[in-house]
Amino acid sequence: MSEQILTPERGGIDRALALLERGQLVALPTETVYGLGADAENAEAVAAIFALKSRPTFNPLIAHCHSADLAFAQGKTTPGARLLAERFWPGPLTLVLDISTECRVCSLARAGLDTTALRVPAHPVMSEVLRQFGRPIVAPSANPSGQLSPTRAQHVATDFGDKIEFILDGGPCEAGVESTIVDARGETPVLLRQGPISTADIEAVWPGIQSDLSSPDSPRAPGQLLRHYAPNARLRLNATKAEPGELLLGFGEVDGDRNLSERGDLVEAAAGLFDLLRALDGQTNRIAVAPIPSAGIGAAINDRLTRAAETK
Ligand code: TXA
Ligand code: MG
Repeated sequence: MSEQILTPERGGIDRALALLERGQLVALPTETVYGLGADAENAEAVAAIFALKSRPTFNPLIAHCHSADLAFAQGKTTPGARLLAERFWPGPLTLVLDISTECRVCSLARAGLDTTALRVPAHPVMSEVLRQFGRPIVAPSANPSGQLSPTRAQHVATDFGDKIEFILDGGPCEAGVESTIVDARGETPVLLRQGPISTADIEAVWPGIQSDLSSPDSPRAPGQLLRHYAPNARLRLNATKAEPGELLLGFGEVDGDRNLSERGDLVEAAAGLFDLLRALDGQTNRIAVAPIPSAGIGAAINDRLTRAAETK
C-alpha cells in the first residue's frame, strides 16, 4: 500500500500529478485551506468531488491556475479584474468572470453557469503542482459538506479516511480561511465572500465595492443556478417514456434520446448532466427526464433538476 500523505520532499508532487492526470482526486495545500483537487476539464473527476464531499447541490467550484495569464484565458478580463490580479495574485483572492470561448473549466465545475471563479494561489507547493500540471485545477475546501475546512494534511485524512487516495502535505495553511471572492465582471467590484483580503484592501485598488453576501457559504450560486441556467425547454421529471413532442433524457434502463449513464452510474450521470441538458435544450422545447435515485450524488442531481423544472 502506498502512503496516503506525502510531503514534496518525499515525492508528493509527482504522485499528485500522476493521479490528477488519471482523473483522480487529490487533496492539495493552499495558503487558505486544503483543497480537494481535480482536473478542471474532466467532468467525471469533478462529479467525484461533489460525491465525496456529499454536496447537496452543485455549488460551483474555484478553478486554480498557475498564472494570471492562464486564469484570464478562462474568463473575460475586465479592467478591474486586471487591477486586482496585479495587486493580489498570487494570493487568497478569487475573481468571478464571464467565461471566455477558450474556457477549459467544464460546465459541471461551473454548475452550468456562464461565469467561472478563478484564483492564482500563493502556496509554493500548490504553485508547483499547478505549474507542472499546466491547466486549471478545481478545488473546493477538502472537507465533507457543512463541516470545518481543513488547514492541515491530517485534518483531511481524519475527515475522509480511506475515501481519499492521496494528500499532498504542504504543512499548515497560513490563512486558514477561504479566499475572498469578488465578482469582477462589472464597472465596480461586488464582494461575494469575505476572506483574507479585506474590503478596504480591494477598495484601495478598485473603488466602489458593494457586498452581496446574502448566503455566505454559497454566495449567489443557488440563485444564479435558477436565473442563469434554466434550460429554455420545459422539464418533466420522473418520466419513463417520452410523450409526443418531448425528448427523453434517460438514465440506466430507462433509455432515451440521450442517456445520463447507461450503466446507471450516478457519478457518470452528474458528470454529463449540464452538457446533456444543454444539448437537448438546443433541439426541443420539452425535455422529459428519467427517474434518478436520490442516493449519494443523486441528491444533488435531483436538486438541480427540480430547480430547473420549477423555473418554467
Ligand atoms: O480559499 C479557497 O477559496 C479554497 C481553496 C481550496 O482554494 N476553496 C474554497 O472552495 O473555498 P469552496 O468550493 O469551498 O468555495 C467556493 C465558493 C462557493 O461558495 C461558490 O458558491 C463560489 O465559490 N463560486 C464558485 N464559482 C462561482 C461563480 N461562478 N459565481 C459565484 N460564486 C461562485
Ligand atoms: Mg467550503
